[in-house]
Amino acid sequence: MSSSANAKKLEAPKKRKNFRSSFHDLDLKEWRNYPELITDSLWQLGGRSRSSVHKGDYHGNFVPQIPEQMLRRFTKKNDVVLDLFSGMATTLIECRRLGRHGLGVELQESICRDSRERLGAAENPHDVTTTVVHGDSSSSSLPDKLMPHLQALGRDSVDHVLLHPPYWDIIEFTEGDDERDLSSCESLEGFLEMFEQVVVNGAKLLEPGRFMTLVIGDKYCSGEWIPLGFECMEVMRGCGMTLRAINIKDIQGNEKGKGKNNNLWRYRALRNGLYVFKHEYVMLFRKQG
Ligand SMILES: C[S@@+](CC[C@H](N)C(=O)[O-])C[C@H]1O[C@@H](n2cnc3c(N)ncnc32)[C@H](O)[C@@H]1O
Repeated sequence: MSSSANAKKLEAPKKRKNFRSSFHDLDLKEWRNYPELITDSLWQLGGRSRSSVHKGDYHGNFVPQIPEQMLRRFTKKNDVVLDLFSGMATTLIECRRLGRHGLGVELQESICRDSRERLGAAENPHDVTTTVVHGDSSSSSLPDKLMPHLQALGRDSVDHVLLHPPYWDIIEFTEGDDERDLSSCESLEGFLEMFEQVVVNGAKLLEPGRFMTLVIGDKYCSGEWIPLGFECMEVMRGCGMTLRAINIKDIQGNEKGKGKNNNLWRYRALRNGLYVFKHEYVMLFRKQG
């Protein structure tokens, strides 16, 4: 063997770069070609996307760009996504657009009906299954209730969980006293206890190594800033979820009716020594493998 051949043999094998990930199907060889995907913790999304059949008519719905960002970065085609506070099915509409199966749970029967109708009008180019289930996400029987829907997809677990709970009692979602509604809790402790049960259900169904998203904002109560976001974050960490990101999302231009009252809010802030909310959180957690 020549000396140059010998030297070649002794060279350390070149490390092969891994351009694929276990939790998304972006082509990392082409990583420059995804300028629309956010990798920074400050999210300035601008206005609500008008893609598909989305409308901003449900009080408390989030902008479609939030589930879009999370699904594209943390799920693959044909993965199963679970939204435990489905509302008007913003997440499920995005599932259809992006080719993920979607399961949404919503407490209000009328909203289940309306959101199924809206979802039915959305195109389904990837022929995925998207289902709105009427139910209580804080009930310990929820995983059993969802199992037939998962089995119909050949699964007994999900690949991503999205949580966009009521911001405690800022908006009352149900009329009367429905104890299952997280927005009807009398105390912060009660709200956090119910939220914990929802997280337990989500974590039970989530595949190890996969991700859970929490979207939430804070609130003021009698002149005191209540850090709902951080309280909920601690609940999730207490349930064994690893915190991966606290993203701050600009809510400017996304608040119904606040625009015309901007000066009033500014005046109140100056008078009372407060700050006007202009952000909410998009937090990311991972279930350990
Ligand atoms: C902030 S909204 C979610 C909006 C949704 N992301 C969208 O874009 O339409 C919270 C939703 O949680 C629902 N909800 C409240 N308590 C619930 C519970 N225990 N189980 C399931 N859904 C619940 C409310 O009816 C409301 O529709």
